[in-house]
Amino acid sequence: MKQKKIIIAIDGYSSCGKSTLAKQLAKELNYAYIDSGAMYRGIALYFLEHNLDMNNHDLLIDALQHISLSFDTANGKNDLLLNGVNVEAKIRTPQIANLVSPIATIAEVREKAVHQQQEMGKLKGIVMDGRDIGTTVFPDAELKIFMTASIAVRAKRRFLEMQQKNTPQNLVEVEANLIQRDHIDSNREISPLRQAADAILLDNSDITAEEQLQLALGWAHEKKVW
Ligand code: DC
Repeated sequence: MKQKKIIIAIDGYSSCGKSTLAKQLAKELNYAYIDSGAMYRGIALYFLEHNLDMNNHDLLIDALQHISLSFDTANGKNDLLLNGVNVEAKIRTPQIANLVSPIATIAEVREKAVHQQQEMGKLKGIVMDGRDIGTTVFPDAELKIFMTASIAVRAKRRFLEMQQKNTPQNLVEVEANLIQRDHIDSNREISPLRQAADAILLDNSDITAEEQLQLALGWAHEKKVW
């Protein structure tokens, strides 16, 4: 049977290792990888850097017209470009982590991001991770994975990641931020974080990154990908 390129949608809670799995899968399958959360973070950064009043909806909507998002994928990178400038480091700070979830609830923000994400998936051969990829962005994705892990495991992972990036936060703060973001992401009106009916649940609390990669590759091969 002829094999085909597919779309792989990975959704789940914050700090479940979605991007780790998505990047590995994309590398193994020679697919593109898109971190949809980076796009929301880029929009949040623009709002922050322009000192926009977060309560002024009209100003925020107007500002969206001045935002262009793209990715620099040279040399295996996946860096977000905001209006052509590499902002990868700037969008990973605790300040942006605190700001981004409320901004991602705004309808016009989501419309802009989702439209661009759908365009990027037109040629298939793509792995995209986020919160609404299997439910809203690509409801027809051939493979959907919904990731979860215990809050303790997730907080520890994020804590270690922040330490490595030299932006340390204490573990209690990290856990509180994750809980708050999950709450906002799961309870917003538009495209809340949900497991799609046809998504495979992957709880990685007790498995290694390599084990989860092998599982996901198995699922991808069942879809006859190349
Ligand atoms: O994956 P992340 O932590 O970089 O995502 C940052 C925020 O963006 C997250 O709190 C929720 C939002 N987000 C979203 O609403 N929809 C997506 N597809 C991806 C991220």
